[in-house]
Amino acid sequence: MKREFQQALAEKGRTRLPTVLLVSAECAPISKTGGLADVVGTLPKSLAALGVDARVITPYHRCVKDRYRDRVEHMFSFSVDLGWRSQYVGIEKLVVDGVTIYLVDNEYYFGDRIYRGGMPEGEQYAFFTRAVLDAIPNLGFFPDILHCNDWHTAMIPMLLRTQYGYYVHGRMKTLLTIHNIAYQGKFGFDFFRDLLRVEDRYFTSEFMELNGCAAFLKAGCVFADRLSTVSPTYAGEICTPYYGEGLDGILSARRHQLSGIINGIDTKLYNPFSDPLIPRKFDKGHLRGKQFCKDELMGEMGLRADSRTPLVAMVSRMTDQKGFDLVECVLDEMMESDICFLLLGSGAKKFEEFMRAAEARHRGRVCSYIGYNEELSHRVYAGADMLLMPSRFEPCGLSQMIAMRYGTLPIVRETGGLKDTVKPYNKFTGEGNGFSFANYNAHEMKATVEMACEVYRSQPEAWAQLQRNAMSEDFSFSRSAEDYARLYIDML
Ligand code: ADP
Ligand code: GLC
Repeated sequence: MKREFQQALAEKGRTRLPTVLLVSAECAPISKTGGLADVVGTLPKSLAALGVDARVITPYHRCVKDRYRDRVEHMFSFSVDLGWRSQYVGIEKLVVDGVTIYLVDNEYYFGDRIYRGGMPEGEQYAFFTRAVLDAIPNLGFFPDILHCNDWHTAMIPMLLRTQYGYYVHGRMKTLLTIHNIAYQGKFGFDFFRDLLRVEDRYFTSEFMELNGCAAFLKAGCVFADRLSTVSPTYAGEICTPYYGEGLDGILSARRHQLSGIINGIDTKLYNPFSDPLIPRKFDKGHLRGKQFCKDELMGEMGLRADSRTPLVAMVSRMTDQKGFDLVECVLDEMMESDICFLLLGSGAKKFEEFMRAAEARHRGRVCSYIGYNEELSHRVYAGADMLLMPSRFEPCGLSQMIAMRYGTLPIVRETGGLKDTVKPYNKFTGEGNGFSFANYNAHEMKATVEMACEVYRSQPEAWAQLQRNAMSEDFSFSRSAEDYARLYIDML
């Protein structure tokens, strides 16, 4: 154990590192729709390297059943009351890459999509909340820290404090990590009263009321022992009205208990030197393989430009968060210069339609793959020259870090974790690992893309230096894991 942890534990009169149960709606590699899954899947491995026993509890989603059924071990089952219904809960155990994952089984709630949307999604995760809390005493693993993630698990701290006794549950401390404050799990108060037996006295603005509704996330912000989010800049931003989505008041009041811990990525999985999913391996000393990956990618995607034409890519959920309206506004103008644009994404229909039409207008130079495709994402990270992330807000962002691992330079808006990870190119000193712009403005974005393309075209040496800088960054999860371990110890 690190000496620093020993001392911190000694100050608390403890000798043993805390045990942790991460609670999450998704967990890579078994279930994933975005970065939350990556974080929950990777953090326990890095914590284990520090000696912290961290396990995960997550729903037994359809996609998990389909792939892992044969490896899952049934532990026990019971039923919980949810409103007037009594519901089956099965607890299964699965070990993936050394991480113990407890799976909450119920075919009615988790037999279909990870997120059903609207009220059915609220009910899915109200059920999950109750199932997790009732399962904990029988897991044979007692967590000192319950580490909840995002709104789907944010009612847990409140129910723990208001409905459960001291003996088992009362000894656990709760941490709520906010990966995205824009999703809050807002429903009428009746929903909480009926499904989770929340008492009427909690329907006030000091507790869970938010704009006339009640919100899972607000309950978590009020009741969790500690709060964290996934970058230092976002921690500051969510305390302001512009980014706080109505929770800036409570978060500012608890600012001293709110940490900003930047995410890392799985540097083994995303490694251009050993990645089996890319057509040729490379590293920062030998970038020729990257050109090969680019040529292959352009061929695969039907991009017919010269191989020296800058290839700007996006790999992203298509939501308002990710800045697609900026792309919509200036893509045609950007295509007036000699560039190729590639999108791998899925989400809002309006952006999908826009991309299909743009593809038709700029055949051979704009290409989109609409859908979620993990394997293709590796080939895009490896083959593109630049990764565009013009986010309106970005709690942390993993894509820019993954891109940098592959020598693909990020072009980002200076917000949240993008600001904390991307150092803009300084043409006087040659320093930097990408490009950035400050305002949420389409022409500012376009000017930055053009500047990046200009460096790519006319200053190959400066470009290669930027690539080496980007590829030399340490984005492993070990630093973040140390920060989490410090925080867990501090919470004891
Ligand atoms: P967010 O969690 O907000 O979606 P992040 O940048 O934190 O954004 O993480 C996104 C993760 O999801 C990255 O691992 C990225 O490669 C992956 N991803 C996003 N869209 C797709 C897609 N269409 N196909 C494959 N992977 C995707
Ligand atoms: C959220 C955020 C993203 C972050 C991820 C993991 O989905 O949108 O910025 O990287 O969670 O924390």
